[in-house]
This record gives sequence, structure tokens and C-alpha cells, in this order.
Amino acid sequence: MESKWTEVDAFFEHQFFTDSENCDMHDILESSRSGGLPDIQISASQGKMLQLLVRMSSASRVLEIGTLGGYSTVFMARALPDHGTLHTIELEPEHARIAQANFDRLGLQERIILHIGDARHHLQSMVDSNDSGFDFIFIDADKVSYPDYLKLVRNLTKPGTVIVADNIVRGGELVNPATNDENVRGVQEFCTALSQCPELETSGIQTVGNKGYDGWTISVVV
Ligand code: DHB
Ligand code: MG
Repeated sequence: MESKWTEVDAFFEHQFFTDSENCDMHDILESSRSGGLPDIQISASQGKMLQLLVRMSSASRVLEIGTLGGYSTVFMARALPDHGTLHTIELEPEHARIAQANFDRLGLQERIILHIGDARHHLQSMVDSNDSGFDFIFIDADKVSYPDYLKLVRNLTKPGTVIVADNIVRGGELVNPATNDENVRGVQEFCTALSQCPELETSGIQTVGNKGYDGWTISVVV
């Protein structure tokens, strides 16, 4: 079955991606691979889906937690209007260096602001500086810290803000209450916390594809 998932992802890319999109995204993956980054970025179909969600929400200010090589970042940045900005936070300086080179090469250096270090620190600074908030937030970093990230980003939203979180389903382990995996516990706590945020309406969507079986939560501030 998994080979079918991969085949269908390839079909979507072939049908729905332009040649220049394919080429740019391929270059980002290549630079990530040659830089020794782990191959854990979202799939191309998911990246394009994220781009559509950013567009559908008419977002002009986007926040990403977990840049890696900038693959998802570029998809989202390309959905922004001319005056739009995307803040992305990466813990590892070497990942950030590769991501910044990708943004520069694609001419996105004005639109994307890359912060290096612990996301908790950068998010708290944004809260302290009375940042006016984001229209769209994508959480895709260490799973153990998802509950912390949610606590902080709740102060950076406004009505209509969309929050998407990656890697929630984890091959179905999400629903294993006896798990010893701290990453699974992280996403379980994150889902509990989401359900206890009165300002958020949330659902989950399971995904299959060339990245296996996983899923997103999608929330909106009402
Ligand atoms: C891992 C992290 C991710 O964000 C992902 O999409 C897949 C795997 C990981 O840390 O293993
Ligand atoms: Mg992920």
C-alpha cells in the first residue's frame, strides 16, 4: 500500500506543480541533502497544501517553528502578498545557514526573517514586544516542546489565525495511551491542550504519502 501512497504523491507533483516549482523545490532538497540535514521535511504535496492554506486564509504575516532547510518555508512564503512577511525559527545554526542560503538564492531574503535559537526564547520576545500577531502559524519542530509552543503562540494570535501542526498522528501512536515515546507524549499533550483552548476550533487530518502515515491538526481562532 505504501508504494501506492508514494505513486499518488508523484502523480500530484506531476499534475499540479509547474516546472519552476519542481526545480526550486528540488534544489532545496538537494542542498539539504548535501548539507547533511535529516530527510524529515514535509512532502511536496503537503508543502503545496500548506501554500494553499496560507492563501485561503489571506495571510500576510506567517510564523513557522522549525525551519530545517527552508522547504516548507518557501512554499508558504510564496503564498504571501508583496507586503507579507514570514518569521521562521530554527534551533540549529547549521540548518539555519543552509535555509538562509536557499532563501537568498530564491530572492526571498526580504520576505523571510530567520531567527536562530530556542523557539521559546524568540516567541517570548515577540510576546514581550507586543507583536501584533500572526495570521497563520505552522508548528513543525521538536514534538516534546509542542505544548510549550502552543502556550506561547496563543499570545500571538487574533480572530481568524490558523494554526497547523505537523506530525501529530505518528503512525497511529497518537492513540496509544501506554506509549513510552516522549515525542508521542508531546503530541498527545498538545492535542489535550488544543482541546482546552476555548478560543480555538480544531480538527485533525490523517495523511499518507511518500512520508508514510502521519497527520496534522488544523485550528482556527474563533
Ligand atoms: C521528525 C520530525 C518531523 O518534523 C517530521 O516531519 C518527521 C520526523 C523527527 O524528528 O524524527
Ligand atoms: Mg514535521
